[in-house]
Amino acid sequence: MRTALLGVTGGIAAYKAAELASLLRKRGWETHTVLTANATRFIAPLTFEGLTHQPARVDAFAPGEPILHIDLARKADVVAIVPASADFLAKMSCGLADDLLSTVILATTAPVVVAPAMNTEMWRNPATQDNVARLRSRGIDVVQPEDGELACGEVGEGRLASIETIYAHLEAACGRARQLSGRRIMVTAGGTREPIDPVRYIGNRSSGKMGHALALEAARRGAQVSLVTTTGAPSHPGIQVIPVETAAQMASAVLDRLDSLDALIMAAAVADWRPVRPSPSKLKKSTGAPEVALEPTMDVLAEAGRRRRPDTLLVGFAAETDDLLAHARSKLEAKNVDLIVANDAASAMEADDNAVVILDRNGVVADLPLQAKTRLAAGLWDILASRLSPAPEGQAHVRLGS
Ligand code: CTP
Repeated sequence: MRTALLGVTGGIAAYKAAELASLLRKRGWETHTVLTANATRFIAPLTFEGLTHQPARVDAFAPGEPILHIDLARKADVVAIVPASADFLAKMSCGLADDLLSTVILATTAPVVVAPAMNTEMWRNPATQDNVARLRSRGIDVVQPEDGELACGEVGEGRLASIETIYAHLEAACGRARQLSGRRIMVTAGGTREPIDPVRYIGNRSSGKMGHALALEAARRGAQVSLVTTTGAPSHPGIQVIPVETAAQMASAVLDRLDSLDALIMAAAVADWRPVRPSPSKLKKSTGAPEVALEPTMDVLAEAGRRRRPDTLLVGFAAETDDLLAHARSKLEAKNVDLIVANDAASAMEADDNAVVILDRNGVVADLPLQAKTRLAAGLWDILASRLSPAPEGQAHVRLGS
């Protein structure tokens, strides 16, 4: 049985949360409800207790339940905030934890779906929109409110999305959370550094943000992730970090483990050349400008393409400043990979946002517009997950519903 944690915040649409609680029960979910103090002005906890057959809570300090917020946070397969008031969106965006519901949200690792409902002007207010963008960039699914008649008598955007729509988001979030369970996925991230001497190196502008977002999203979907990275890393129990610095170290980290992988995603910007003879001691200015002879590094992805098992999904990135699709296509062929994620090198590197085109041998698979790399990672995994070879018998592998 799947378990939902239903959070209800203060607003006229709070009564519709009861409808969701009832639907969840009909569809076989165990539902625990947490209401904010303001929500109880609109609807009684008892309504949810009657509908879910579980206690509905408001108080973080109820006697006899000292770590209630942690228990609730761990129990949930998915958290739904219905309706989410403007104030609660702001609280979530800042990470405040001053009541039971906000504390549970900070403590949970389950996917969170938020369905806002409010007056049109409050919804459109830049403060609210900034909060929504921040929540989305953290991987929280904010269900777009609908256009329609509002409680205040106005007509406009801000009506709670339909209960069926919100339910579909919960199903999808739950499906995604288990979509990659049992899968072994390696992601490489960041720019390699090729030493000239102990303090200087040849590097590039890659920040590792895209690779880290892909690793985190895969872990959130249940995969066992190895993240080979040249820079700091996101923390998640499903991510094993393998720190590397040079192309050669990245090559051995990847190639040593290649056979055990369901997918290799090469998001790293691997240096193409390295100094032939890095100096063991710091080069002194007084000895004049050094001549640094370079030699090619190993093309890790191309080597993986030669050694790959046919059932390991191989995904490369193509960073280009011109002729994006043509160059990406030729890398796809030359490196024997299944998919290439093509992006503009100049605008993608170091940025928080990115836009990509995904190609396979038949042409363009998807064109994902400019968005936060964290969101983009979710869009990429929606596609990549469907390209994995079928999981072996008995291994959990959940496909996303529509
Ligand atoms: N790559 C790699 N090893 C290298 C160079 C690149 O594994 N020595 C991988 C990257 O991680 C990426 C893909 O190959 O997934 C394409 O990298 P990119 O820098 O776009 O292209 P290059 O192959 O280096 O070619 P060029 O620099 O000429 O565009």
